Amino acid sequence: MNIVFYSAQSYDRVFFDRANQSFGFTLHYLDTPLNAETARLASGAQAVCAFVNDVLDEACLDALKHQGVSWIALRCAGFNQVDLEAAKALQLPVVRVPGYSPEAVAEHTLALILTLNRHTHRAYNRVRESNFQLQGLLGFNLHGKTVGLIGTGQIGMATAQILKGFGCELLGYDPYPNQVFEALGGEYVELGELYRRADIISLHCPLSPENHHLINGAALAAMKPGVMLVNTSRGGLVDTRAAIMALKSGQLGYLALDVYEQESEFFFRDLSDEILTDDDLSRLMTFPNVLITGHQGFFTGEALTQIAEITLANLRDLAEKGQCDNQVV
Ligand code: NAI
Repeated sequence: MNIVFYSAQSYDRVFFDRANQSFGFTLHYLDTPLNAETARLASGAQAVCAFVNDVLDEACLDALKHQGVSWIALRCAGFNQVDLEAAKALQLPVVRVPGYSPEAVAEHTLALILTLNRHTHRAYNRVRESNFQLQGLLGFNLHGKTVGLIGTGQIGMATAQILKGFGCELLGYDPYPNQVFEALGGEYVELGELYRRADIISLHCPLSPENHHLINGAALAAMKPGVMLVNTSRGGLVDTRAAIMALKSGQLGYLALDVYEQESEFFFRDLSDEILTDDDLSRLMTFPNVLITGHQGFFTGEALTQIAEITLANLRDLAEKGQCDNQVV
């Protein structure tokens, strides 16, 4: 099988070449993102492998189909970047990697919470300048705080387990509650109650047309003053401008983002020699109580190993059995 990889980084090659030793596929890596225009580069491939910010809209899927592509493998969990109706109509099966390492994202979520709370991002710079003062670095104990998890699937649950160890009270909101969360001591509540009671709110649900800008001005206003909001899920869940307003007023006390609404134009690239053209992203970076990472929640060796192995196994299943457990279309 010939597989063309879009948006490929050097680490993708390392992990996929290693995993491919037991599959024997032919892998072609392109650093180009996938969209309607670049779809023609997949000519001659049976499958394409895409990542989080590739744009698999109807025009792109149509172009891939016309190049003779039979299968699409996403090397990520989310699939909000794919027009599923169009894929279905074109009979283009799409597979993904649902649960490669929920702990990787959960642990990054904790890294963000702890950094923001104890200001280690500021302390690091301060100490390097021989400034050992503590003013401005005051934190709070996580122990006893109430954390609201929006989405209690694999990553939400892995986060809940860690927070439990810190002695946090857990609130959850999920249209499909699971008993393991309750067995852990978690309490399912409606969103309004979660907003009202939580000291920290962490997003772990997929992005869909229904929950786009779930965290908007009204949601932020309903939260506890000074709340900490963490988004390691998908950028479109948070209305960035509303978050900036809430940061300016102090209603939002801390904001940690591993994902950003307009990230496809910036993330996974070195733009340090260029002028940053996104005024919202620039404004966010001026706040001392905002921490941004470039979509690295998944980025551990364990997770990349799993992603590579599961992605190639997904394609093998499609080729050999005509179906796959991790199929979304
Ligand atoms: P999952 O499918 O195991 O769990 C998602 C949960 O969200 C489910 O329990 C579902 O019922 C719930 N849900 C759906 N719509 C909801 C809504 N409107 N409000 C509240 N809950 C809702 O998915 P998993 O593996 O836990 O991943 C969650 C998300 O994390 C992914 O969709 C992806 O966007 C993001 N992600 C981010 C990564 C990163 O590197 N930052 C890496 C991997 C995933």
